[in-house]
Amino acid sequence: MDFFDYKRDVLHAEDVSLHAIAETYGTPTYVYSRATLERHWQAFDNALSHHAHLICYAVKANSNLAVLNVLARLGSGFDIVSGGELARVIKAGGDPSKVVFSGVAKREDEIRYALENKIMCFNVESHAELDRINKVAEEMGVVAPISLRINPDVDAKTHPYISTGLKSNKFGIAAEQALASYRYAHSLSNLDIQGMDCHIGSQLTDLAPFEDALDKLLVLVDALEKEGISLTHLDLGGGLGVTYQNETPPDLEEYAARLGRKLADRQHLKLILEPGRAIAANAGILLSKVEFIKQGEEQHFAIVDAGMNDLLRPALYSAWQNIIPVDRNTEATPHLYDVVGPVCETGDFLGKERTLPIQPNDYIAVRSAGAYGFVMASNYNSRCKPAEIMVDGANHHQVRARETLEDLWLGESVLP
Ligand code: LLP
Repeated sequence: MDFFDYKRDVLHAEDVSLHAIAETYGTPTYVYSRATLERHWQAFDNALSHHAHLICYAVKANSNLAVLNVLARLGSGFDIVSGGELARVIKAGGDPSKVVFSGVAKREDEIRYALENKIMCFNVESHAELDRINKVAEEMGVVAPISLRINPDVDAKTHPYISTGLKSNKFGIAAEQALASYRYAHSLSNLDIQGMDCHIGSQLTDLAPFEDALDKLLVLVDALEKEGISLTHLDLGGGLGVTYQNETPPDLEEYAARLGRKLADRQHLKLILEPGRAIAANAGILLSKVEFIKQGEEQHFAIVDAGMNDLLRPALYSAWQNIIPVDRNTEATPHLYDVVGPVCETGDFLGKERTLPIQPNDYIAVRSAGAYGFVMASNYNSRCKPAEIMVDGANHHQVRARETLEDLWLGESVLP
């Protein structure tokens, strides 16, 4: 459920007309809804209320400071994958002691920075990384809290680019090697084993792979227990899908209930989830203006002012995101359009074969753009990154200014 709806035939974010936002801030512009972010985070928190848990929002989905701050105020933890993301969490008022650090190649300086800030746990993906974290911790005279990311070899049945829990993927430690890896971690004096984690993929629309992964992890947890290595938390990663078109993502209550059943007699194991998309995707839209309507030989093109540099998912994954007109009360006749951007690439499209009643200067909204939207934007074609606005009831706040031309060459210089 989100708070983007038509009111008097104009699309609104909460109580603010998107027409007004476009006129005030220009386009292309990302617009987020605070109430939607909060609702989605609370839904996770409430669903898991039967078990000790922590929701660690995956910062990579949308790392705008205002987004992080809204979630930090709810008491959220954070899943980070870089020193940069930790810096953002801290800047936004997040609590480092609720941060888990994922990723296959944490640099020494990032590990040091995370240890200085006393994060909750490093999700470690290899022996080499165990060695590196142990070395940095030893140099600092501290003990590093760690978890091992297990690759449970389950098929998440999602897009191959965002499937991460198969043997063929670069992520995690194979389940067969897990015990040896835990023993090895146990032998290193500056590591403190806290948990076990996995993340099998993103945009999952079926609960079975999550359950299979949890089953595999629990077998390992028991085996470790027998060896005297007891864990305090289990982190199942993110990955819950959302509705872009006609997907029916698993019901959150059902997901939580199934996890809860498997963990019922393990109250000492705190459950961590790292949702990104499920919290942020439908809490944002990308607002864009129709520049031209072009009749090709075979297709009609709606050329809009947002391109693949602003929203990459359609070009990169052939992802389908709904595109709707901001003003429903239009005289334009609906036509079938390929909605394309201004970037000089044939792959620069936001949507293909969409029936839209639009004409030049109309505004459109690309839905479900709150996750993996702005964070994947680039300056390709020397285009300034869009502004980001957060709506809060009847108020709107610019939470990132549109880039200016000067921003484009910040840090660059010519030869003397
Ligand atoms: N935890 C870890 C370790 C992850 O790698 C990810 C996402 C998440 C949590 C959050 O997953 P979520 O709940 O958002 O599914 N750019 C792609 C998605 C890449 C996801 C990468 N990892 C897209 O636009 O679809």
